[in-house]
Amino acid sequence: MKKKIKFQKTKDFLSQIPDWEKDYKKSNEVQLNYEKKDWANAKACFSKHDLKILGEPVMEDWETPYMKDLAEVATVKGGVVLELGFGMGISANFIQEHNIKKHIIIEANKAVVKQAKKFAKKAKHKVVVLAGLWEDMIKKIPNNSLNGILFDTYPLSEVELYQNHFNFFPFAYQKLVSGGVFTYYSDEIKKFGKVHLKKLQEAGFKKKNIKSRVSKVVPPKSCEYWKAKTILVPIITK
Ligand SMILES: C[S@@+](CC[C@H](N)C(=O)[O-])C[C@H]1O[C@@H](n2cnc3c(N)ncnc32)[C@H](O)[C@@H]1O
Repeated sequence: MKKKIKFQKTKDFLSQIPDWEKDYKKSNEVQLNYEKKDWANAKACFSKHDLKILGEPVMEDWETPYMKDLAEVATVKGGVVLELGFGMGISANFIQEHNIKKHIIIEANKAVVKQAKKFAKKAKHKVVVLAGLWEDMIKKIPNNSLNGILFDTYPLSEVELYQNHFNFFPFAYQKLVSGGVFTYYSDEIKKFGKVHLKKLQEAGFKKKNIKSRVSKVVPPKSCEYWKAKTILVPIITK
């Protein structure tokens, strides 16, 4: 039987978790209702407005203005852009509106990969789809080769909750060319929390190159994972 994972959440770590996640903030034990190993083959339930996998609200279309902003940041240098997590393809469509040379997509869920491959066939700029977890596929990307990165995956295990992006930060630094730009679904409302800033700097990014702006969003009341009217758009240059 699956066991709850025990946590010692530090004050700094908790300070970046939105207030509406009261249960997560209070508890030192967490157990997800799904397992990472089941993600690849799980059914992807697409509706007009959202995507659910294993019952999880993976993506919802109120995020469209935010995805537009993330895509703008990731493509600002043109060239080769890596996107992690295809979801509903909202950010992918925005990426294609910019003047880029190549769009690489890494996606873990096989049903979503199918959609990404359909998208690739019609895309204006060349698209390469790598099917698998980014943790396995990232080695296919040469170091110092990317002009932009947009990271928007989903926590697939208890230890990834509110920190699924942290493990990726060192790879973002390694894979970008000097001057390349990294952005990610930040899970932060208006400014970087201490933990994000620390992890970004530990990965190699200089404090003076860690910037941000804010995207205005209108999540519906029914949205389980976001309750604020803004989300932070990271703009991080190597
Ligand atoms: C939030 S959605 C991406 C939304 C997308 N930006 C859009 O605009 O529609 C997250 C996607 O990441 C994928 N994913 C989750 N964990 C992953 C991982 N470790 N590696 C690659 N893809 C992953 C999920 O299957 C899902 O399709």
